[in-house]
Amino acid sequence: MKRIIKSLNRDWQYRADFQDAYISTDFSIGDGWEPASLPHTNIELPFNNFDESFYQFVSTYRRQIEVPALGNGERIILHFEGVMAEAKVWINGQEAGNHKGGYTPFDLDVTSLVEPESLAHLVVRVDSREREDIPPFGNVVDYLTYGGIYREVQLLVVPPVFVQNVFLRPQIHEGGGGCLEASVRLCNRGMTAVSKQVKLELKDASDTLVGWCEGSVEADCGETVLELALDVLPKIELWDLDSPVLYWGHVALFDGEEKEDAVVERCGFRTAEFTDKGFFLNGKKVNLRGLNRHQSYPYVGYAMPKGEQRFEADRLKKNLGLNLVRTSHYPQSRHFLDRCDEIGLLVFEEIPGWQHIGDEDWKDLSVLHVQEMVERDRNRPSVILWGVRINESGDDHDFYHETNRLAHELDPTRQTGGVRCFEKSELLEDVYTMNDFIHSGERGILRSRRKVTGKSHVPYLVTEHNGHMFPTKRFDQEQRLVEHALRHLRVLNQAIGDEQMSGAIGWCAWDYNTHREFGSGDRICYHGVADMFRVPKYAGHAYASQMSVDERVVLEPASVFAKGERDASQILPMVVFTNCESIVVHKNGRLIDEFFPDSVNFPHLEHPPIVIDDLVGRQVDELPYSARDKKRLREAMSLVMKSGLGALRLKHYLQMVSFLARKRMKFSELEELFMRYDLPWGGPEDIFEIRGMVKGVEVARRTYASGWGEILRAQADRDEMHCGDWDAVRVEFRVEDAQGNLMPFSQEVLNFEVEGPGEVMGPKSVPLTGGVAACWVRSHGSEGCIQVRGVTARYRSNAVTLSVK
Ligand code: GAL
Repeated sequence: MKRIIKSLNRDWQYRADFQDAYISTDFSIGDGWEPASLPHTNIELPFNNFDESFYQFVSTYRRQIEVPALGNGERIILHFEGVMAEAKVWINGQEAGNHKGGYTPFDLDVTSLVEPESLAHLVVRVDSREREDIPPFGNVVDYLTYGGIYREVQLLVVPPVFVQNVFLRPQIHEGGGGCLEASVRLCNRGMTAVSKQVKLELKDASDTLVGWCEGSVEADCGETVLELALDVLPKIELWDLDSPVLYWGHVALFDGEEKEDAVVERCGFRTAEFTDKGFFLNGKKVNLRGLNRHQSYPYVGYAMPKGEQRFEADRLKKNLGLNLVRTSHYPQSRHFLDRCDEIGLLVFEEIPGWQHIGDEDWKDLSVLHVQEMVERDRNRPSVILWGVRINESGDDHDFYHETNRLAHELDPTRQTGGVRCFEKSELLEDVYTMNDFIHSGERGILRSRRKVTGKSHVPYLVTEHNGHMFPTKRFDQEQRLVEHALRHLRVLNQAIGDEQMSGAIGWCAWDYNTHREFGSGDRICYHGVADMFRVPKYAGHAYASQMSVDERVVLEPASVFAKGERDASQILPMVVFTNCESIVVHKNGRLIDEFFPDSVNFPHLEHPPIVIDDLVGRQVDELPYSARDKKRLREAMSLVMKSGLGALRLKHYLQMVSFLARKRMKFSELEELFMRYDLPWGGPEDIFEIRGMVKGVEVARRTYASGWGEILRAQADRDEMHCGDWDAVRVEFRVEDAQGNLMPFSQEVLNFEVEGPGEVMGPKSVPLTGGVAACWVRSHGSEGCIQVRGVTARYRSNAVTLSVK
């Protein structure tokens, strides 16, 4: 027999209420059932300005399942990956079980409730209310939890004795090579103990056998764990950030010669350790540069399919240049984590919760969530830390003693953390993980480890900073956007410079919908370095600029180059987020100067921002004056451009008077000179060119003129979609000038035009906000080409083609 795994993602019927009558096997009961595919949201929400009660209701999902023929003693199991917040399941009118908690998976053995080779009626009552018996609920929460069967469901057919869980523990030997320990948990649903053999084969990405071993076990009724070990693996490639090499552990269960069950789990060989001198991956120090991710999306909340979940990891690593993500504040989709394993993005994963600790039953449930999280994800090389404390909750010795004990028992290979926001908390975890929001733009940037922990030797990680301290909208004024970005970089700089810290995780990756107590009054926290549509703010570019130039060249001037956008019409200083070694600036074809990274204010960053603080520059070289006079003129003129006339000091006036006297010049001639190098009104259009230089070679160039919105450019994150159940791809529409620069104040009504087997998720007509509109296009599950275009009264974008294969 072979294990059967069947997707149950399609062919559901859904309705936004529940009545006992729906449990009936008579599927004709009740009108108004809608067709549904998983992942599914119980209600499509507006972008903002809605009430959180909109999604907090009880709903019903039902479908029929074709029960296959069952061999002797075979079992049928339903596997649910995530149902918010409580699921109650009936098969053929009989209760099959329930699960509390919307972020972790659960299995129900429904064998006794079905007839082989028949149609079974499956009904799920989904309670998406904020029930105070289920974490994170019981008090306020700064995020929305949405509703529905928002992750996948499968039907499994397994033999009477089957492999229930496999825990792979790859280890590296000092002199090279390694070994692999494995705990294989068997479940025997039969009436008597039976003897079984288990074979473990380790294979690499090309399916080549790297090593194998086997063992026998007497599988008692219930659960039995068999320990296996592959002691000698002479050639092992490490899982690392740049080359995340994976291996596949194939576990097969035999009865004599007959193979009865098989599962495959992925793993990676690496060491990961938080020490009091920072974090080490494979013995090498890595400064952790991370962001917190909420798994929410506009309109559909949590209900995004595999393809988008996977791309989100790419977005964090490849677009934002992160090496770590914290799954704040709950376990996230396995597809997202799969991709983290594949691309080398480290993960700090934590249990559901937000500040509040409930009663004893609530705590027991939270402890169960520790188990469900660890057992699901302990084979992942990307996961380097378990968060086993309710985010920002107070101390609770017994509760956290238990969450730590259990995490260590289930996974002795990983350290634990527990995120708190106050000093000198009782440390039961291995790493003191702290939300430090001290930076408010003034000098305090991070508290010292000693001050926070009261200890001199303890692994320490900053798990949140910035966030609510400086909410910033993508369409805010330029100065605020720049300051927002600089605040994130100041914290990163400080964390990297302090060898006692392992790194810093900013709050947060994307803006998110929230409750009325939080955010900007429209149910959004504008705390992201990108907006809810994943469009970066300058802070997003600031993070991206920290990645290696070999991965991607980043050259992002944080300015619209307009004379009136900032207070008092100042355009300097202009900050450029880049990983180039220098930038060379030209104005109207003439060299201004070469500018270098600001390593005075950001000494610890690999790529400090580059600040352009002088647009007069070398233009004065053409003047027939002495080097000293030219230097002084340049200094005074730039100062005026940067900070206005009021910035000139007595020294500058005296220098000018002396200069005018020596040259027998009139003051008006000096003014003319100023105007020549300033950015005067009425003159010809100024064209700025910024060239990014690496090793003396130009690697990128940005050009700014007095641009206007010439085109609406459409671009998709991916051009292929998986046919499978259904997939979703983000498409972005940007108004750009002739040089490809975003026109961040364009606002028009944009209509999405879609042809082919797909549709836009959410409204089909939206405003351009800050020059951009974006949407997720979903496939219907059939093959073909989807064409998407954006049309406004003024623009018609190019069409993007998504091929569904
Ligand atoms: C933290 C909290 C986060 C978020 C953040 C906003 O205290 O852990 O969930 O609310 O504040 O800055």
